[in-house]
Amino acid sequence: ARALLAEAEPVDAAGRLAREIGACARCGLCGPATQAVPGEGPAHAALMVVGEQPGDREDLAGRPFVGPAGQVLRAEAAQAGLDLGAAWLTNAVKHFKFAPRGKRRIHQRPDAGEVEACRWWLDLERALVRPRLAVALGATAAGALTGRGGDLLRRRGGIEAAPDGTPVLVTVHPSRLLRLPDRARAEEERARFREDLARAARAV
Ligand code: URA
Repeated sequence: ARALLAEAEPVDAAGRLAREIGACARCGLCGPATQAVPGEGPAHAALMVVGEQPGDREDLAGRPFVGPAGQVLRAEAAQAGLDLGAAWLTNAVKHFKFAPRGKRRIHQRPDAGEVEACRWWLDLERALVRPRLAVALGATAAGALTGRGGDLLRRRGGIEAAPDGTPVLVTVHPSRLLRLPDRARAEEERARFREDLARAARAV
């Protein structure tokens, strides 16, 4: 698979990577999911934004961050002056993991083995795009990028380094902002998320 990085044009390499991700069976998540959701964006984007995994909407559309959490991310990034149109958007895990409940599919966190199996693709995406900065949205992305997923709330807002030296700004996952029942608290958390994204915009 690493041969794809030798494609003459980065756009060709990105297309080939997406096709290879589409055929991935490195773990069991490919069975129940509709399709893999590869990363997308300019092949040499300066910024890479990494979420946890596609949600229900992304699984159906085949594109990252098109559902409710993606809308929060896009709205706050716009406010923060962070241009997601110029970013490579991807996830630590490329298939949606869920438990069926009636007609609904309930999100389930990927386990360590699934994240590890999928890191193959994330590492290839990083080697292809070579971003100046990666933003880790939530613990799963932080773990996949830095090797450490714990302690997120204490780490958020800080810039760490991936093992290959890529700077990684750690923040919360936007779906967290959708789950907070208290309105004032949710506003506060949104403002902090926006500050983290503004820091990414300044750092990139
Ligand atoms: N949440 C994620 O982490 N990624 C997506 O693509 C959508 C929701």
